[in-house]
Amino acid sequence: MAEVIIRGTGHYAPENVVSNFDLSKIVDTSDEWITTRTGIKERRITAGENTSHIACRAAESALKDAGITAEELDLIIVATVTPDNVTPSVSCMLQSMLGARKAAAFDINAACTGFIYGLNLASMFIKGDIYNNILVVGAETLSKIMNWQDRGTCVLFGDGAGAAIVSSSTERGVGSIIIGSDGAKGEVLQCKALPINNPFLKEQSTEEHHSHVIMEGREVFRFATGVMVDSIEEILRRENLTPQDIKFFIPHQANLRIIDYAAKKLEVDISKFVINLERFGNTSSASIPIALDEMNKNGLLSKGDRIIIVGFGGGLTYGAAYLQWQK
Ligand code: ACO
Repeated sequence: MAEVIIRGTGHYAPENVVSNFDLSKIVDTSDEWITTRTGIKERRITAGENTSHIACRAAESALKDAGITAEELDLIIVATVTPDNVTPSVSCMLQSMLGARKAAAFDINAACTGFIYGLNLASMFIKGDIYNNILVVGAETLSKIMNWQDRGTCVLFGDGAGAAIVSSSTERGVGSIIIGSDGAKGEVLQCKALPINNPFLKEQSTEEHHSHVIMEGREVFRFATGVMVDSIEEILRRENLTPQDIKFFIPHQANLRIIDYAAKKLEVDISKFVINLERFGNTSSASIPIALDEMNKNGLLSKGDRIIIVGFGGGLTYGAAYLQWQK
């Protein structure tokens, strides 16, 4: 059976930087409130580029880092809750934009856990000897599903994309992965798609339709801290490792307080947790691959480093994976 490695990474975020102060001119908020409640100082917000564009830039960077061409890709998986269209998928758009002639392509929706779900799928295709090189992208333009009058949500999120080339190898780079869901709690983090609308409706709806994120922050907080700790402990158990054996934990970048809570509960020094949310906010499926790429490109990863990535998000969903850096 083939082993799986992350052969290259990339990320891209729109150039437009929006600070907490900028947001205080749009909604009744302050840098002090946002910083103390979340740790976020600024985020990138698209001034026109859609999800496929930012995904493509991240993918190009990952291909370059991996040293392969788009023609060598067998499959493209894009995790997103903010696609350009219902169809064609962002992954099919990428297939064309990159010139990935022989690649199959599909999108997945596991919200902020999307990259881990995508990595899991990619690993299975490789371990099953079906494919050799798979592009996994987490890409979001969350700004388009924000209610810019709701200070409780619009300050939390940002736009961005992160990508990884996942390849077959003789070295073990991707180890245990767990993914899970709790659909019964789905309503605590919602964004509606199109309502039913046809000439055969028994009753015309009077409800006003919107596609904005609505969140019960405290419930998400409770869920996030619980599954983060449980998922990390489960990965450590499966890999027969202790927290001390792990060089870096790369968590989904939603809120500094969630990460802080998990670190304390696991009795791990917070310095082992990679944090960049102060610059990007919460970019959902993109947050983990953006952080991984920053670590890679800044030369902070060495061959053999043990890493755990962990995420949680809408659905509700959660997941974690063990990585051994093999570049
Ligand atoms: N600026 C100023 N005041 C605000 C803001 C804001 N941006 N947002 C809310 N408030 C006010 C509220 O109106 C409320 O005022 P009131 O007491 O007068 O009614 C007060 O602050 C407290 O509001 P809460 O929502 O109870 O604030 P809380 O302490 O729970 O913090 C937060 C909110 C930061 C969202 C928190 O619940 C949290 O961290 N939740 C985790 C969820 C999360 O991170 N979600 C984003 C990611 S989701 C995901 O990635 C899956």
